Amino acid sequence: MTEQVADQTLIVDPSIIVIFGITGDLAQRKLLPALYRLIKAGLIHKNTQIVGITRRDVDVDQLLKPALDDIKADAGAVDGPTLARLKRIIHMHRMSMVDEADYGSLQELMDQLEEREGLCLTRLFYLAIPPQIIQPVVGRLGSSGLNKGCRRHNSAARLLLEKPFGFDSVTAQELITATTQYFSEEQIFRIDHYLAKETVQNIITFRFNNPVFEPLWGLHQIRSVEVVADEKIGIEGRANFYEQTGALRDLIQSHLLHVMSVVMMAKPVNPLQPAAIHKARLELLESIKPVPADAVGQQTVRGQYQSYRREVDNPSSNVETFAALKLFSKDPSWKDVPIILRTGKGLKHKQTLVNIDFKPTADDGDHANRLSFQIQPNEGINISLWVKKPGFVHQLQTVDMSFTYQQAFTGDINPDAYERVLVDAIRGDNTL
Ligand code: BG6
Repeated sequence: MTEQVADQTLIVDPSIIVIFGITGDLAQRKLLPALYRLIKAGLIHKNTQIVGITRRDVDVDQLLKPALDDIKADAGAVDGPTLARLKRIIHMHRMSMVDEADYGSLQELMDQLEEREGLCLTRLFYLAIPPQIIQPVVGRLGSSGLNKGCRRHNSAARLLLEKPFGFDSVTAQELITATTQYFSEEQIFRIDHYLAKETVQNIITFRFNNPVFEPLWGLHQIRSVEVVADEKIGIEGRANFYEQTGALRDLIQSHLLHVMSVVMMAKPVNPLQPAAIHKARLELLESIKPVPADAVGQQTVRGQYQSYRREVDNPSSNVETFAALKLFSKDPSWKDVPIILRTGKGLKHKQTLVNIDFKPTADDGDHANRLSFQIQPNEGINISLWVKKPGFVHQLQTVDMSFTYQQAFTGDINPDAYERVLVDAIRGDNTL
């Protein structure tokens, strides 16, 4: 049975997407392929332009080479007309991101593009750059007036920030102060692409649209909650970034805490209203008890994959590429339920999932059920059930009751997380 709703994704405004750090890892691995797919799906407005900011002397062909290799590996071939259009709308702009004078030339380029298109375009600044230069760039955008958007209508530009938001709470606060000096809350999009994954959004639907599970959600029935993001890849050449970040800051404090908050938040007053979801998630995050200093040995694990020190050329690096935490919530409905968060690079398989382990019944301590949200790959939901094996002997075994996106939604659009991030920012929806 399908519920029909209007397809909001088709409503995208003509915009200028300015990508700071267009030659970097994020733009190459995620943003450019996402833009290619959005163009191919017809979701990018015909007047939309992309400005690529870099200090290097790179032309569009050189820029697109790695991203095209990825697209080819993924889709088998590159679509000619889509590629031609992508090349036509990308304008490389060489400038220093820290020199205020260079922001004048960026303003000129954007004015010219709007003049040429004969339209005021929604201006988006995507900062896909190392955390240390985010604050100076935000400051330069603000002081040069680029926070104001199209000059003819004096509209508001949007600012897209990637995590990590600062290094710790002090620097996060400084970043908040710096951004809010020039940009209002409606203009700021703090991106955590895990929340934009179809399977993560579906956790909310699963929880609040399938009433059968609602009474089971909490300490009386649930034994533990586990959120796992195992990666096969290593640090992929991001030595500088990773040496200053590590697994805890890169994935746990961002992606995994967000997924955990979606899984464990109380039912929002209105599960479709952004502010209500933000509030419920925040309350859950605030209920998490910090790990006491004397329990760090029991509640946390750190590790590093073998070739890491060689890759970062630092024989004494102590940065973790693996981290696991056991946390607890102060919320009475989750009292004493262990929450395990785990991530690592250079592991055997890529798998991102959530496991909810239910308690066995008091008179049958051996048989419990597990509900798994498979976030990637093989996106889907699985429940393990105990059944009697056929035969004359009473023997039990577990079987899986599963749904996979691939089988259930053949032919439906399944946007990648960064496609969703971009479409949401263009249409000004900050729910995620
Ligand atoms: C990024 C991290 O935010 O997420 C990377 O910085 C990580 O280290 C990536 O590889 C994982 O994203 P995904 O969508 O491939 O699971």
